[in-house]
Amino acid sequence: MQIHQSIATIREALSGTPAALSGAGRIVFVPTMGNLHAGHIALMQQARAHGNVVVASIFVNRLQFRPGEDFEKYPRTFAADCEKLLAAGVDHLFAPSEAELYPEPQQYVIEPPAKHASILEGEFRPGHFCGVATVVMKLFAIIQPQAALFGKKDFQQFMVLSAMVREFALPIEIIPGETVRAADGLALSSRNGFLSATERAEAPRLFHLLQRVATTIRAGNLDYTKHEAAAKAELQDSGWIPDYVAVRKRIDLQSPTDRSPLVVLAAARLGNTRLIDNIEI
Ligand code: PAF
Repeated sequence: MQIHQSIATIREALSGTPAALSGAGRIVFVPTMGNLHAGHIALMQQARAHGNVVVASIFVNRLQFRPGEDFEKYPRTFAADCEKLLAAGVDHLFAPSEAELYPEPQQYVIEPPAKHASILEGEFRPGHFCGVATVVMKLFAIIQPQAALFGKKDFQQFMVLSAMVREFALPIEIIPGETVRAADGLALSSRNGFLSATERAEAPRLFHLLQRVATTIRAGNLDYTKHEAAAKAELQDSGWIPDYVAVRKRIDLQSPTDRSPLVVLAAARLGNTRLIDNIEI
């Protein structure tokens, strides 16, 4: 695996790949913020099935964190991440410094529409999706992949980035990765490491609660507001501070109005750690 810290070297390396030279191959890209777990590694393996050059990136993107969020304490485990990427057969790793990616303040940004980016996560993390979309657009401009993978655990991120690529007619296939879970159901996340032992034991409740909501809706009970309120109450009673539990249309995360496929999403704080999860219905 080649590790590149500069835009110039990753560009040079990728312009010489069989994919770029023949025009027949595909560069498949998996952007990450590092602290890699089995969910990321599953994305790398999936990427291999979609192309012949797999590129990963590690960059903790300040733009998508609000003041007071966990940017400073976001886990940075570069050496261990490199070993995992090497073992997963990744060809190139792009790991720029902040000065390399943002040599001047990033004033040109991608501003996703409020109906996608100011709801759910966006309501509680204003500006988050602007930061995500901006860095992903910049990474796409550098890597110029034919396909990119994003995990569905961040369902809204997947939706926003799919819409961005569609509306800008970028020639990039956006491929979803299934959420990888611990044996007890907790979705793998870099933030799980912040949980105390007691919190870790409590954390799978989020998934089990979403499962129950999904099962009830699949059984034909469509009183979404009631399910959302009951789920939030259960979280509160169990010591969580819920931000939202919401049943939405998968395609655009708006409230259900017809029979289109649904997803139930939740975000809640357990101690000092904010967890998110979702289940497609
Ligand atoms: O999902 C993430 O890890 C980040 O939001 C991403 C897509 C790498 C952009 O910084």
